[in-house]
Order: sequence, then structure tokens, then C-alpha cells
Amino acid sequence: MIERIQKLIEEVNALHAQNAEEVEALRIKYLSKKGEVNALMNDFRTVPAEMKKELGMRINELKACALEKINSLRDALQVAEVAGGDIDLTRTPYPVRLGTRHPLTLVKNEIVDIFSRLGFTLAEGPEVEDDWHVYSSMNFADDHPARDMQDTFFVEAHPDIILRSHTSSVQARTMERQQPPIRVICPGRVYRNEAISARAHCFFHQVEGLYIDKNVSFADLKQVLLLFAQEMFGTDTKIRLRPSYFPFTEPSAEMDVSCTICGGKGCSMCKGAGWLEILGCGMVDPAVLEANGIDSTQYTGYAFGMGIERIANLKYQVKDLRLFSENDVRFLDEFQSAN
Ligand code: DAH
Repeated sequence: MIERIQKLIEEVNALHAQNAEEVEALRIKYLSKKGEVNALMNDFRTVPAEMKKELGMRINELKACALEKINSLRDALQVAEVAGGDIDLTRTPYPVRLGTRHPLTLVKNEIVDIFSRLGFTLAEGPEVEDDWHVYSSMNFADDHPARDMQDTFFVEAHPDIILRSHTSSVQARTMERQQPPIRVICPGRVYRNEAISARAHCFFHQVEGLYIDKNVSFADLKQVLLLFAQEMFGTDTKIRLRPSYFPFTEPSAEMDVSCTICGGKGCSMCKGAGWLEILGCGMVDPAVLEANGIDSTQYTGYAFGMGIERIANLKYQVKDLRLFSENDVRFLDEFQSAN
């Protein structure tokens, strides 16, 4: 039996194959259930006990040889196949399917870019905030409805720790760090306790702007916003400021732009009005300056805040807010060329 094994080892070492079918045939001949190695295993049961040790080792040796040989024949054939031209190694891997930037990132980048060209620098603040930065320092009265449970998310029922409901909190964060001149743009995510629908979501994105210096006037604000609107929506864009109210600005205004679809004639987008509301703004209330350690007898400032989803909707006519957070690649792919 030892001799038989020795002969088989020699035989195996001398094997060669032309193609995958021949390799498979060899595998069957030596290593399958009905193959040579298994046949030896069967005979092995009948040999006397004193021979078992040596024979067992030799059979294992044969099995290892056969496995190694057959695997190396298979590998060699694969290499030959590649080199033989079935696979073109010189072929360019392109077009590689590239990802796309998220539409909200595209719009945010565009807004930040426009304001950075006007000298605004980027500022950020935490999404988990305290009542002071979101409301009190922004001149919200204690009983202001925005603090209500219906709007604000509280963290672990703690009355003071909340998810910020607007990026105006970054105004306070900036003022407490820095004396004027201050000129910052603050993009970020905000949270409100709203039922999710096509028109509302429990989180969305805003960009806040703040400029504080000596002699800053409403005329400065208007000019900067006009330039922004024309950069964002085209040079023919007109703006309109309507009086409004925010606790942190006085006077306050809301700004409309001429309709991005009809240019002002009236269409379904602007519901016939010719105008679309895009942001809130105003002169920083002196009470806000004082609450944040800035001398309101020396300095004045303006602030504005806008929703990024709102601007994205006007630019791309996205009808359902939920699309922005569902990450459906068919939706995201539509912004391929906007990168
Ligand atoms: N914080 C306001 C909101 O969430 C937006 C806003 C309005 C920001 C007027 C401002 C501003 O800075 O001056 O609705």
C-alpha cells in the first residue's frame, strides 16, 4: 500500500492540464468521494494497527500534494486566461459612477460662497443648545409661543437643554466670543416639533447672517440682500421688503423675490402674486446687543435668516420636502450635473 501511495504522489506531482475541464476531471479522479484518496481511506480501515500511523501520514501527504497541485493548475490557467486577452487590462475604468452632492449642500455652498465674497466668514454653533442662546438672549419673552412644547424639542425632558429651532442661536454664540466688527454667515440644521408632510419636517436647514459694526444701516442690509438675490436667482431678480416682526430685530422685515418662474407676471409657482417670500431680516434689536455684551450706544447691526430647503425649492422646484431626507438615489442623481 505504501508503494501505491508513493506512485500516486509521483503521478500527482507530474500532472498537467490544458483547461478548466481537465482540472476538474483531475479533481474528481483524486479528490472526490470516489477518487483515489478516498479509496485509500477505505482500504486504510482494514490494515493492521501497527501500520496505521505511517500509512495515515502518507495518505495525508498524498491528499495535500493533490490539493496543492490541482489548485496551482487552476491558478496557472486563470493567469494564462488574463494574459491571453479575455480581459483587457489596458481598458480605462471610466466611466466610474460618481456620487452627487446633495441638493441642500449645493444650495448651502452657493449661499455661503455669495456671502463670503462680501466679507462674511463662517460661524457655527451646536444643534443641542440651551434656552439662553436660542431664546432668552434673542429677546424672546418668557411666554413667547415659540418656546412652547409644540415647537421645541426638549432633550430628556430637561427644560433648559433643547434642540435649536433656528440658527439665530449662532448670533448669540458669536457675539459672546467676539466684539464688533462681526460679519458672519451661519449655516446649520434646526429642529421643530412638526408632523412630517410634504410641506413640513421635524428638521430642516437655515442660514443666518449677522453684521455688527459702527453705523450699519438698513440701507446696507437692503443692498446686501439685493446682491444676494441677484447672484442666487439671476440679475433680473427684484426684491421687496415687507414690514414684519421678530423678537430679535427692530425694525423687522420679510423679503420677497420676483418669481423665479414667471419673473413677476404671476403663475402657479407664486400663486399669481409674482413674488415669493424667501427670508426674514431686520436691524438687530439693541436689547439683543446688550444681552450679548455689545454696547448698543456704539454699535448697530443687521441680521437675516433663510431656509435652505425653501431656496432649494425655488431653484429646483422640489415639491415634497421629504425627498431631501429620504436619500433616494433617483432623486439625488438628478443633481449630477449641478456639481
Ligand atoms: N430665526 C427666524 C426663523 O427661524 C429667521 C430670522 C428672521 C432670522 C429674521 C433673522 C432675522 O436673523 O433677522 O424664522
